[in-house]
Amino acid sequence: AKITFITTDNEHIVVEGESGSAMELAVQNGVQGIDGDCGGVCSCATCHVHVAEGDVAKVGPASEIEQDMLELDDNVTERSRLCCQIDVSDELDGIVLHVAG
Ligand code: FES
Repeated sequence: AKITFITTDNEHIVVEGESGSAMELAVQNGVQGIDGDCGGVCSCATCHVHVAEGDVAKVGPASEIEQDMLELDDNVTERSRLCCQIDVSDELDGIVLHVAG
């Protein structure tokens, strides 16, 4: 799937992968603002993104553990996700994720 990250500087970075998490793809491709400090175990919130409005249904809601983690972060909206918890699959092709910063 191809996933577009939009950084807080409005840089658009298209990443592509078949598996793993959206966070891993972002880190591999040097997307600024996605650090993935905890390695993807939902405990750091350095992979916070806002899902583009039209893609919310595709990506789905945050899990309960994820929501608890998000609550501690700034700039949380109802479209917030931790992108290490977004599994890359064909169904996600074309989604857009805004780096929450
Ligand atoms: Fe740490 Fe996602 S990488 S919560």
